[in-house]
Amino acid sequence: MKTFFRSLIIFVLFLLALPVVAQDDVPPADAPYKNAGLPVEERVEDLLARMTLEEKIGQMTLVEKNSIKTEDIAGMALGGLLSGGGGYPRTNSAEAWAEMVDGFQQEALNTRLAIPIIYGVDAVHGHNNVKGAVIFPHNIGMGATRNAALVEQACAITAVETAATGIYWDYAPVVAVVQDIRWGRTYESYSENTEVVNELSTACVNGLQSDDLYVLATPKHYVGDGGAGWDTSTTDNYIIDRGVTQGDEAFLRAVHLPPYQAAIDAGAMSIMVSYSSFDGMKMSAQKYLITDLLKGEMGFTGFVVSDWKAIDEIPGDYYDDVVTSINAGMDMNMVPYDYPAFIDAMTDAVAAGDISMERVDDAVRRILRVKFVMGLFEHPFSNPDLLASVGSDEHREVARQAVSESLVLLKNENAALPLAKDVAHIFVAGEGADDIGIQSGGWTIEWQGKTGNITTGTTILDAIKEAVGEDVDVKFNRFGRYNNANDESGNPIQAEIGIVVIGEQPYAEGMGDDGDLSLSEPDLGMIARVRERVDKLIVILVSGRPMVINDALDEADAFVAAWLPGTEGAGVTDVLFGDKPFTGKLPFTWPRSVDQLPFDFTNLPTDGDDSPLFPFGYGLTTGE
Ligand code: GLC
Repeated sequence: MKTFFRSLIIFVLFLLALPVVAQDDVPPADAPYKNAGLPVEERVEDLLARMTLEEKIGQMTLVEKNSIKTEDIAGMALGGLLSGGGGYPRTNSAEAWAEMVDGFQQEALNTRLAIPIIYGVDAVHGHNNVKGAVIFPHNIGMGATRNAALVEQACAITAVETAATGIYWDYAPVVAVVQDIRWGRTYESYSENTEVVNELSTACVNGLQSDDLYVLATPKHYVGDGGAGWDTSTTDNYIIDRGVTQGDEAFLRAVHLPPYQAAIDAGAMSIMVSYSSFDGMKMSAQKYLITDLLKGEMGFTGFVVSDWKAIDEIPGDYYDDVVTSINAGMDMNMVPYDYPAFIDAMTDAVAAGDISMERVDDAVRRILRVKFVMGLFEHPFSNPDLLASVGSDEHREVARQAVSESLVLLKNENAALPLAKDVAHIFVAGEGADDIGIQSGGWTIEWQGKTGNITTGTTILDAIKEAVGEDVDVKFNRFGRYNNANDESGNPIQAEIGIVVIGEQPYAEGMGDDGDLSLSEPDLGMIARVRERVDKLIVILVSGRPMVINDALDEADAFVAAWLPGTEGAGVTDVLFGDKPFTGKLPFTWPRSVDQLPFDFTNLPTDGDDSPLFPFGYGLTTGE
């Protein structure tokens, strides 16, 4: 009986606490929150005071665009929409993206308070879901450049190309400090080294949130996503992705946390929480790490967003997941599908007193603050002036330079590199030599990426032909078989140069968790075949991480780690043929065997069979 009266009192108090605001109260044109000349906090408080509970909960709701009923954007006063990986419109062009996003935005601006939605996308190596956009090397390659200015420039270009399509929120950069390269998201990370990640992720935040153009950065995934232990994942058939972060709090603070402080100091105003767990608890439920540490001790004043349906992975029923995560400090829930269920759970939880109005107001205050800071009220729509720059030659030149600086030369013997351009014959082999999809990797047009001619770009084979011109006989065979390549006497041609591209097929997230990392038998067979037919053999590894390459390394005269270079394959040949130098340095320690993983970086042998094949920071320069 007592419980009943307690609930009744709470409910009555809840009704009394509701602002007496009629749903059809349209604020005056001179309402303070509409005045860009006023301080942000004044605009926040004015707008918050005008909002109903429904409008507040709407702001905390982030929905995937393929799940939305357009009328619900206004009907439920939603605060955010996103395109998940590959979430393109029916026609995948920059113009069609802009039309789609602007259409959603107009719905939001038709509401009583006209609060613009914030539309988010994973533009993690360029505006990579958009056909025709420039695709930069994935972060592992940018890590090999060690060039913060170049990273900043790449992220600034990404901001221009996303803003051209009406998108001012980028779920980037990943600031994971990856401890085990068997993780399928290794290539999204700059490095195993905290200082490298600090420097380059901050550069990307600065590039996205520049004075000229503000696209909200989202350092992710908070915290320790890159430190999960092998075989600790409980998600689908993933093995390490979304697993349990290893080490104690002191280790977490020393290795995984610093990039977040660096990003906050650089002005980051949204942070995405990780699927992983720490200390036996899902990150989405961690009140100490989200509220006390991130928002308290580290002074984060932006908003915290969940990962895709991540709060559902908290043990317990959905209502409890919502209560636990919001009370832990989650401000915006990437639902992404059943948004009415989230809104109902929130409404019930506030009515029952399981989530306080103070917590709701804190979350909405943070969301509104960010929308005001980024100028979304003043420029909610796409910028058509930027459309022509999407995939422009100027942007591609920067990406080409990034490719060149990302390549790491692991071996160079027999005076192999740089290659001469005035030879008679070049044999090229490997599926990856002529495939934009393979050289771009995951998070490209599709969530998982895709092989084939999936977007505009230059393959490594195209670039080789372009580099040497028509007088050189370039023969390509994806399997390395040149049976009909004979001279006038009918003898098999011996080519001066052989270039073999090997590596990984595209993947993303846990789909790329791999405990083997060995080269495929077809790749090894191809290397052996080409070896027989060429004077100098160059092997190029196109992969999202170091692999076990010992046999291939022995066969090759030169061996290049190219990572996932993206659309500008000419950046590879610029360096192969000596137009630019090799300068890249390993962002990850390279194993001899997977049995060495995970490395104990505090106690790495420097020689002998237990030592790495190549240490962090290794990289030859041309002519060494
Ligand atoms: C994914 C990823 C996250 C991404 C989000 C939206 O599952 O974990 O990095 O930003 O969903 O696509």
